[in-house]
Amino acid sequence: MEFCYTLGKITNADMGVAVRLARIATAFIVTAALLLPVRVCLAASAQDNLQNRATRKPYSPSRIEKGLESPQREQWQQPDRVVAALGLQPGDVVADVGAGSGYFSFRLAKTVGSGGKVYAVDIQDEMLAYIRAKMQKTGITNIVPVKSTPIDPMLPPGCCNSILLVNTYHELGDPVALMKNLRKALKPGGIIAIVNWNESVTRKKLYVPMDLLVEQMKLAGFRPSKSHDFLERQYFLVFSQLN
Ligand SMILES: C[S@@+](CC[C@H](N)C(=O)[O-])C[C@H]1O[C@@H](n2cnc3c(N)ncnc32)[C@H](O)[C@@H]1O
Repeated sequence: MEFCYTLGKITNADMGVAVRLARIATAFIVTAALLLPVRVCLAASAQDNLQNRATRKPYSPSRIEKGLESPQREQWQQPDRVVAALGLQPGDVVADVGAGSGYFSFRLAKTVGSGGKVYAVDIQDEMLAYIRAKMQKTGITNIVPVKSTPIDPMLPPGCCNSILLVNTYHELGDPVALMKNLRKALKPGGIIAIVNWNESVTRKKLYVPMDLLVEQMKLAGFRPSKSHDFLERQYFLVFSQLN
């Protein structure tokens, strides 16, 4: 009797509250169910932003002579000015990531001199073979060709004063993962310099917006510390390590 009475008392006294609580709970569940797909979509687009193109094909070695090594490139690429802007010293160790035919590696090797070293890093054997052949032909010995994987540059930890990526960033499937690993290869105070196509480029698949690049670099532990604007078709950003 006491139990029934208590139950009845509770029910009668709190019925309005219980109904309101039930309504609030229902509203909460319905809202959560409606918002779930939105959250999934937002997460998916953030993920898309982190990956430029997971299945992007790398630059074909068959295009080296007409593309990477074409004589006209000097005009728009200004390679000596790019290398000078890195402020390298004789004896420095630098990595050219996505080295391709070594267009920049050989210029970097000249700048750091025989006491320095250039790691020419690429995922394609044909590119590294091209660099080795050119090393033999020119007698240059301070370049070390390195076969990497898409996210692992295969560099010794803390090896480098500077790392350069030219016209490579748009080919990276998982740029944040690669950049995190490149960070491990930098000496304290070491920098990463990135040159990539700006919005003027007609083939849009070559274009990574600068703000997306900066966002991805932040996720990998870098902040933009310098920007050079002497290249008409490309941006040229220098990143320092956070903390
Ligand atoms: C367009 S070429 C640029 C070559 C060179 N940096 C230049 O400016 O002449 C891009 C190069 O990046 C290489 N590559 C693409 N993804 C890479 C990655 N995750 N790690 C290292 N190299 C990569 C490709 O194999 C290709 O040789």
